[in-house]
Amino acid sequence: MTGSEWWRTAVIYQIYPRSFADSNGDGMGDLAGITSRLPALQDLGIDAIWLSPFYTSPQRDAGYDVADYCNVDPLFGTLDDFATLQATAHDLGIRVIVDIVPNHSSSDHPWFQAALAAGPGSEERGHYIFRDGKGVNGQLPPNNWESVFGGLAWTRVMEADGTPGQWYLHLFDSSQPDLDWQNPWVRAQFRDVLRFWLDRGADGFRVDVAHGMIKAAGLPDYTPPADGGSMGGRATALEPGVVAEPAATAPYWAQPGVHEIYRDWRLVLDEYPGDRILAAEAWVDPLSHVAEWVRPDEMHQAFNFAYLETLWGGPGLRRVIDDSLAAFSAVGAPSTWVLSNHDVVRHASRLALTGDNLQGHGIGPKTVGLPDTVVGLRRARAASALMLALPGSSYLYQGEELGLPEVVDLPDASREDPTWFRTNGERYGRDGCRVPLPWVASAPSYGFGPTAASWLPQPAIWGELARDVQEGVPTSTLELYKLALRLRREHDLGLGSVSWLNGLGDAVVAFTNGSVTVVANTGAASVTLPVGEVLLTSEPLTGRTLPGDTTAWLRA
Ligand code: GLC
Repeated sequence: MTGSEWWRTAVIYQIYPRSFADSNGDGMGDLAGITSRLPALQDLGIDAIWLSPFYTSPQRDAGYDVADYCNVDPLFGTLDDFATLQATAHDLGIRVIVDIVPNHSSSDHPWFQAALAAGPGSEERGHYIFRDGKGVNGQLPPNNWESVFGGLAWTRVMEADGTPGQWYLHLFDSSQPDLDWQNPWVRAQFRDVLRFWLDRGADGFRVDVAHGMIKAAGLPDYTPPADGGSMGGRATALEPGVVAEPAATAPYWAQPGVHEIYRDWRLVLDEYPGDRILAAEAWVDPLSHVAEWVRPDEMHQAFNFAYLETLWGGPGLRRVIDDSLAAFSAVGAPSTWVLSNHDVVRHASRLALTGDNLQGHGIGPKTVGLPDTVVGLRRARAASALMLALPGSSYLYQGEELGLPEVVDLPDASREDPTWFRTNGERYGRDGCRVPLPWVASAPSYGFGPTAASWLPQPAIWGELARDVQEGVPTSTLELYKLALRLRREHDLGLGSVSWLNGLGDAVVAFTNGSVTVVANTGAASVTLPVGEVLLTSEPLTGRTLPGDTTAWLRA
């Protein structure tokens, strides 16, 4: 666990606790399940895990609605289970990053319950964003803001005397009231939450909605552009594959005031030994704007959603790689790279979508342009092999190392994402990327847990993709990831730089990073590989011909 600034080159694996491994057979993943499977992650070759929330929560947004920031939900275990997980991970040389959700709490949180009870004008209401409604009787919401999950961003409460009263703001579900970060009391509470987990040995925090905590003074009306991005949460609209120019910023995203919060948090982290980190979930563009989150006295990393949203094709990929390296290095931060997470369509499906939903804002049985699964997997393998050769830090999402596709045919009755409910089924939401993992092809729940129970139904294809049937098979996606991670480490690719190789055609993304040359062919036509020993290929090669949708690494 030594090494300074480990995060500059780290491969960080996202665990979604509900769906990783279930130790007690209730169909819901848990901390003990994660601990039992950590050796498989060590074997994969990752440096750190990021755990999505496991805190006390009514689970209205799968745990991103926190009712106690300093405890574990009984669904997932206990604080002792967390201590065991953390100690086991550290013994295996894996760092542990936890998720912190500061923009909003659960409506079940005692702070919000106290705010409801205390009534208008009270100190407790001042911890959240309560306002009187418009209209003669306050029957209209205070402004026109819409929730990222659909519908109004305001809900009216019933006051203690039984009459309809004030409204509170929730950028997400009505069960997720926004905290008022202008209030010093809120800031003090979260310093304590950071210390609680740092004292327990957490190596850092992934900061949820890190672009949303400050709202523009006066809460002015705002109508977002039609395409608001995968999470509907970006500051400005971005056409697929196009790096945007700055445009009008929503009064609830990317307000300059958020940065003093992170400068303050950085001071807290710096009190602790051992390179603890902050990683921003900030759906902001362009990349030069995202880089503001990782200036030297703020966070360490920010997710590169521009990369995630770039379509599979040479010019767009070359441009986003250049823009990323330039934007992050301008502030002394490493670039990060990511292709999948728990909020977007898995890249083994997304990269083969057709039609007008190319970013895949939640796909389901009625989506037009559903992906061809063979093409999707082939592109995903090529895309991952490209990403893992880039300098900086990469984020993996559980299951991508198995080549899992988005589950498109979930029965409506099994869906849990609030997006589905708040849009009356118009948007499928994110359940399709959250289906519990297959570990053992022949076991009940494909080895997710000891019983057949699984909180979302698993598709039959999980049998073919289970980890045990891929283990040791050289052509499997699992072994491709293991090889890429081993070579990445051996050749120090995380610390390297990109030197473009031209002349292989527009569809080919080719560069040298230190001792490795990478050639990713995003087109349909084959190309001839340059000279050099082949170290890795995402598909089998015949001679030195690199087919379409294939990536190769060569000794430079
Ligand atoms: C973040 C999370 C997402 C959650 C939302 C509200 O974007 O990644 O899963 O629904 O914040 O907390």
